[in-house]
Amino acid sequence: MKRIKILEQSNFNEAVNFVKHPAKVALAIVKDNKGKFNMITLEWFMRTSLNPPMFAISIGHSRYSYQCLQDFRYFNLCIPSKEMVEEVKLCGTKSGRDIDKLEVTGLDWLKGRLAQLPVLKDGVANFECEITTQVKSGDHTIFVGEVKHSWLGEK
Ligand SMILES: Cc1cc2nc3c(=O)[nH]c(=O)nc-3n(C[C@H](O)[C@H](O)[C@H](O)COP(=O)(O)O)c2cc1C
Repeated sequence: MKRIKILEQSNFNEAVNFVKHPAKVALAIVKDNKGKFNMITLEWFMRTSLNPPMFAISIGHSRYSYQCLQDFRYFNLCIPSKEMVEEVKLCGTKSGRDIDKLEVTGLDWLKGRLAQLPVLKDGVANFECEITTQVKSGDHTIFVGEVKHSWLGEK
């Protein structure tokens, strides 16, 4: 049977709804210039190299985490467990300008080996990354980090 395909031109906002949101989420843990840690929920992240292993994260210029990443060139990328839904929501809706998200969530962590950023114990996996490149992409900047240490959670 012949399928009838209707293709109609749409505006970007309508069409982009068909990219499932959120496809996957992660938390990036960063540090500000006073030494306070911050966590941001991210949907826009991906692997960008096998060897060396690298991840890219795209951070909006209005985010507190963007300021942190300008000053401190490391981030930990945590793949959250299913049990971390509430923490992921909080880190995606509140800013580190107003609250200490690590304290408010009460998440358990240990000091990472690379830059002593928190490695979240409840995460399925954590990747300690050092920023090697950054590229401005409209109102976001893509920070590319080389993975230096990887951690596996219990789940
Ligand atoms: C599911 C979800 C995905 C998100 N993905 C991103 C992202 O990829 N990049 C980004 O800059 N902000 C993203 N955000 C928004 C930030 O997490 C949010 O603005 C956060 O409060 C910023 O915190 P900060 O000001 O402490 O950096 C996302 C939020 C949610 C809820």
